[in-house]
Amino acid sequence: MKIFLIGFMGSGKTTLGRKLASRLGYEFIDLDHKLEQQVELSIAEYFQIFGEDAFRKLESEVLKKTLYPDNAIISTGGGLPCYFDNMGWMKANGKSIYIKLSPKTLADRLETGKEERPLLQDKHGDALVDFIEQKLGEREKFYSQASIIVDGLSLTAEKLEQVIGEY
Ligand code: S3P
Repeated sequence: MKIFLIGFMGSGKTTLGRKLASRLGYEFIDLDHKLEQQVELSIAEYFQIFGEDAFRKLESEVLKKTLYPDNAIISTGGGLPCYFDNMGWMKANGKSIYIKLSPKTLADRLETGKEERPLLQDKHGDALVDFIEQKLGEREKFYSQASIIVDGLSLTAEKLEQVIGEY
């Protein structure tokens, strides 16, 4: 089974995904990391040189061209489900789980570690919360198409495993 973890930056896709994969004995694939390996640049560098439009095209290509093993947990970039037909493609090729958190919680988590996230680099405090509220508002309609929606607050890999089992 291929399980795509989706959700806003800071929702824990990579951390939880890695732990979940190890619990299930599945391979873990981080698509942001795959993209960085392919272009030999960090995402921040890629954004700076080529811009966001080029990044969105490339992340869609990486999603669709990656060779996935039968059993994999795949963590996706926060914007990926919201561009092109990426959400439909994930639904056609596996299960998707939306890890849902409030803008305030996301902002608290994202206040540190913004350097590697080009969309957040210049935002702090209230401006960061406002930005997340607005972006999440735009993105929610894509995220909510996920096969499973889970509350990301105090979510553990164990809980995620349980949710998948019940699905
Ligand atoms: C982005 C999220 C990032 C990365 C890029 C753009 C977004 O991934 O793909 O910086 O548009 O939300 P994470 O969600 O893993 O931080």
